[in-house]
Amino acid sequence: MMVESMSQRSQRVWLITGCSSGFGKIFVSAILAWGDRVIATARDISTLSNFAHCDDVELLELDITDSQHVLNDKVSKAIAMFGQIDVLVNNAGYVLSGVLEELSQPQILDQFNTNVFGPLNLTRAVLPHMRSRQSGTIIFMSSIAAWKGVAIGGPYSASKFALEGFVESLQKEVAPLGVNLHLAVLAQFRTDILSAQRRQSGRGVNSIRDYDAAVDAFQSRLEQTNGKQPGDPIQAVERIMDLVYRRGYFADQRELPLRIVLGSDAVEIVRDECQQMLDDLKKQEQFGTSTDYPSRGEVEKYE
Ligand SMILES: NC(=O)c1ccc[n+]([C@@H]2O[C@H](COP(=O)([O-])OP(=O)(O)OC[C@H]3O[C@@H](n4cnc5c(N)ncnc54)[C@H](OP(=O)(O)O)[C@@H]3O)[C@@H](O)[C@H]2O)c1
Repeated sequence: MMVESMSQRSQRVWLITGCSSGFGKIFVSAILAWGDRVIATARDISTLSNFAHCDDVELLELDITDSQHVLNDKVSKAIAMFGQIDVLVNNAGYVLSGVLEELSQPQILDQFNTNVFGPLNLTRAVLPHMRSRQSGTIIFMSSIAAWKGVAIGGPYSASKFALEGFVESLQKEVAPLGVNLHLAVLAQFRTDILSAQRRQSGRGVNSIRDYDAAVDAFQSRLEQTNGKQPGDPIQAVERIMDLVYRRGYFADQRELPLRIVLGSDAVEIVRDECQQMLDDLKKQEQFGTSTDYPSRGEVEKYE
């Protein structure tokens, strides 16, 4: 596939959540540098003041945990800004860590409202527009946490596992209608996500001594990792844009993958997890297939 030159292509419009910092902010700058238009959103619109005077940017206040009704209204406003939305990046999210016994149901619900239900609700609001144009791309920011559960990392991991499960199904529903969905499975990238101000911990008055050592080890690992993550978020944004624009590595790929895995630690973790599963499956094959009825009926493959 030929890559279009700047003068040949029509400008695309991106809608991005969580542009106050990190990946969201980098996306806005990178899209403008590429010559496209962007609707930058944040819970607090004053955090977007850097972009306020750019011609190809519109600013919109948007909290991803708002009701479906509010999100539908925001999407209508967003469409009116440039007349269309070509690409949605479901970027907003945060890390909640903690031990199940210490975490409250509202804390876990809030993690899921932000990392799972919010992106799905916003996607629900955007899909009618994309379906009617038979065109659109939606990016979901996933994580190695969706591929490997670690002690004390349960809430964030569960949210990203859930997101991947839903998106994998949804992709099969909307791809025949012209809408492409992709998951960016990200390693550890150097944004503010692990800073003390941004990450949340389930530890509070309910702390249980049995878990002290594990929680302390996890928290100090996050503190040590903060600011030293091996991944460069500017490079990750460029790779995601390569996918959307079918440029670079994707210029001559006939089919685009559902998942792109970014960061050397993500490549290693996904490979190790798949290998571990294959090894376990090989050992358990006879055991696992022993539960069928003796005369197994013919049913369609689960897909
Ligand atoms: N950095 C990594 O290593 C990494 C790895 C894997 C996946 N990811 C994913 O990448 C995405 C972006 O993370 P980041 O690294 O750029 O972190 P970040 O710098 O902390 O940015 C997170 C953004 O999400 C916004 N946000 C949080 N809750 C929101 C809500 N209810 N409504 C709207 N916006 C909300 C924050 O806005 P406020 O300023 O209002 O809080 C902020 O703009 C997240 O989904 C994260 O899970 C990151």
